[in-house]
Amino acid sequence: MQAWDDKFATRASRMQASEIRELLKLLDQPDIISFAGGIPDPALFPNTAFAEAYSEVLAGGEAGMALQYSVSEGYLPLREWLAAHMGELGISCTPENILITSGSQQALDYLGKLFLSPSDTALVARPTYLGALQAFSAYEPRYDRLAPEGSNMTPASYREGAATAGGRVALAYLTPEFSNPTGETIDHAARVRLLDLCTELDIPLIEDAAYQALRYEGAGVKPILALDCESSGGIDNTRTLYCGTFSKTLSPGLRVGWVCAANPVIRKLVLMKQASDLHSPSINQIVMHRVAAKHYDAHTAMLRDAYRKRRDLVLSALSEHMPKGVTWTKPEGGMFIWVSLPESMDGADLLKRSVETERVAFVPGKAFHADRTGANTIRLSFSLANEQAAKEGIARLGRVVRKVMAEG
Ligand SMILES: Cc1ncc(COP(=O)(O)O)c(C=O)c1O
Repeated sequence: MQAWDDKFATRASRMQASEIRELLKLLDQPDIISFAGGIPDPALFPNTAFAEAYSEVLAGGEAGMALQYSVSEGYLPLREWLAAHMGELGISCTPENILITSGSQQALDYLGKLFLSPSDTALVARPTYLGALQAFSAYEPRYDRLAPEGSNMTPASYREGAATAGGRVALAYLTPEFSNPTGETIDHAARVRLLDLCTELDIPLIEDAAYQALRYEGAGVKPILALDCESSGGIDNTRTLYCGTFSKTLSPGLRVGWVCAANPVIRKLVLMKQASDLHSPSINQIVMHRVAAKHYDAHTAMLRDAYRKRRDLVLSALSEHMPKGVTWTKPEGGMFIWVSLPESMDGADLLKRSVETERVAFVPGKAFHADRTGANTIRLSFSLANEQAAKEGIARLGRVVRKVMAEG
């Protein structure tokens, strides 16, 4: 066999298998109660609506277009629908401000490619979405901590840190709503502070809105891009790059996401998409547009009801079964609860023990930290938890946590 490692480009050394994805492969066993995979419940997909839309498109006048090459910007009626959707969120824009991507994961890759040179600093929350770290790491940045809740990092100290490491501060990234992995939401004041910080640093701010539609309680908070539009005088003056997706609402399988941003950035991303995959699948964009136009509001309302119940079940089971010394977030939406164990405990060791002795799985928190801290944290996803699994699974998890705690 060839020795490949010395033939790969330097960036390939940063491409490591995702612990979560590797783990998920092992956990696909029927007797395991899993809180690991942060995926939508397939039982809630709008199957019939998709089946109808695909057959109508393929049997009708759009078939040729649906099966043909298309423009890199994306299917215009879908971009028009999205521009109106963004308008409802307080972001006044046109289709010229929207690029369709193959999921928001592709948007993160393109934005990393567009803004990060080797040794540049990417500011990310700690913990943050693992897929963003994977996407950015290919462009060889270093990471510094973005702490919107207030920290002693000033623009000057960020700049100094980046210069010492041989680069510049190049971008900030966060999921302001129901973050993956913590489930937490950044409030209005913190969003304003964050935008101020990015303005002072003069860097782009990537707003990952993957879970935005899944709010189960509390008042909505304006997207950062909406605040940016207000303070800068319109979308084409903004620095916020909003990444949206249909993956958490209608279906991840069609791979339809979007970036909403100032037109000069969109134009550059279009070139990137041309070079990368020409365009996202035409038929999926046409079908997604049909299904979204007819069903988005009712379907997301149904999802909110279903997932809210699951969140509540897991939260109440945690209150019942977790020993003192264990704390967790109470997310207002999304799919995740973030559990902090006592400092001395290790989430990865606990997972091993928990799978072996109690057949319960979750994701250890370390993977979500760019600096590999957070060993005593774990992520629980409630999106697939039915009543019996939530109660039984958390009871078992509580049991193994108590045991490990007692062993000291
Ligand atoms: C925070 C966040 N951003 C982006 C994504 C990527 O989703 P997709 O590429 O399916 O849009 C995910 C998926 O889990 C996510 O959790």
